[in-house]
Amino acid sequence: MNILLVGAGGREHALAWKLRQSARCDELYCIPGNVGIEECATCVPIKASEIDKIVSFAKEKNIELVVVGPEAPLVDGLADAISAQGIKVFGCSKKAAQLEGSKGFMKDLCAKYDIPSAKYGRFTDLESAKIFIQETGAPIVVKTDGLAAGKGVIICNTTDEAIEAARAMLEGAMFGDAGKEVVIEEFLDGEEISYFALADGKTILPLASAQDHKRVGDGDTGPNTGGMGAYSPAHFMTAELEEQVINELIEPTIAGMAAEGCPFTGVLFAGLMVKDGVAKLLEYNVRFGDPECQPLMMRLNGDLVEILDAAAQGRLDEVKDQVKWADDVALCVVMAANGYPASYEKGSVISGFEKANAVEGAYVFHAGTDRNENGEIISVGGRVLGVTAKGSSVAEAQKRAYEAVDKINWEGGFCRRDIGWRAL
Ligand code: AMP
Ligand code: GLY
Repeated sequence: MNILLVGAGGREHALAWKLRQSARCDELYCIPGNVGIEECATCVPIKASEIDKIVSFAKEKNIELVVVGPEAPLVDGLADAISAQGIKVFGCSKKAAQLEGSKGFMKDLCAKYDIPSAKYGRFTDLESAKIFIQETGAPIVVKTDGLAAGKGVIICNTTDEAIEAARAMLEGAMFGDAGKEVVIEEFLDGEEISYFALADGKTILPLASAQDHKRVGDGDTGPNTGGMGAYSPAHFMTAELEEQVINELIEPTIAGMAAEGCPFTGVLFAGLMVKDGVAKLLEYNVRFGDPECQPLMMRLNGDLVEILDAAAQGRLDEVKDQVKWADDVALCVVMAANGYPASYEKGSVISGFEKANAVEGAYVFHAGTDRNENGEIISVGGRVLGVTAKGSSVAEAQKRAYEAVDKINWEGGFCRRDIGWRAL
């Protein structure tokens, strides 16, 4: 079948790479894609935000399945617009995307369906927020209700800090509409991991765990980023913990969403805080993680077209046996442009891909790459490459990934040197 993938990051390169391996994949298009994706798909210069153009393109090219990578087009209703044309879509409706798009919506769902999560309050005025903060005490977490490009969560060590954070969100211009409402919640202690599951509106198909590295510096120091590296499976994931996550979090969420009249189809990405072997939900995303998707796709043995197509059609129970995971660990090291996550330069030349891809078990996924007028590969984003490798252990996958990193020639970039450290 002809497939259209929407997105341009490392996550989408990993999805394109895996979709391309399927015997069921005919033409594969990617909107807008990147240099790496060009190797497995035809990239089309339309933006992921141009919903009408995407719909017209899908009709024109007889696309049978649209796979949406990032959350923004889902929040804007891309999946609804595609399915209105009778085209199958892997990605949730605008209504269901509130799980990621509105923290208040997500917290209310957890409260209503007894899903373990931090105690919270929703506020649109500072006075009531203040009372809640003073009653709860510090540490405490203040969040914008809406999407704020990863900057909408402030962990506060004192109640004064929390009041200031709530004021900045509710009264300041910095967070725009995202901060018109805030969610204030109890601080949860523990270790963070991610868990991924597919859903087709009613049935779930559990995937696997991963652990991200959100801080920019080694040893988890410095500012937050979109993720500087990830590996799968997470080192302390056990069968018991997985069962708890599925039974107490994922299942009731999918059942709750259906009961609320917004059935969820797509991939549910649960951000978890685990303490003493028990997980609580920090957040939901309605997409694969980036960079978590890169190690997940590398470990997946199974036909991704078949699996996502089944999810889009509400027949996930038919493909349960198709999803198998390599016993290997896969680990992804993100190479970012100097300066990231603050302002960074674009346009520096990168080479060495062939040598990096020749390292045993390694593959370089592209994120923010393009070509200059000389045809050279250049950086055009903050996170630019996801150098990923498989190995029989975290140590081996890490060794191979860094061996591949060291084959990349790029003066304008850097990476963390300790991805996977919590597992080692
Ligand atoms: P979120 O976008 O809600 O995942 O928040 C971003 C990050 O803030 C998470 O990955 C956690 O590291 C941290 N965080 C969010 N909520 C809490 C909480 N209630 N307790 C502790 N840390 C939190
Ligand atoms: N790596 C975290 C995320 O995709 O949100």
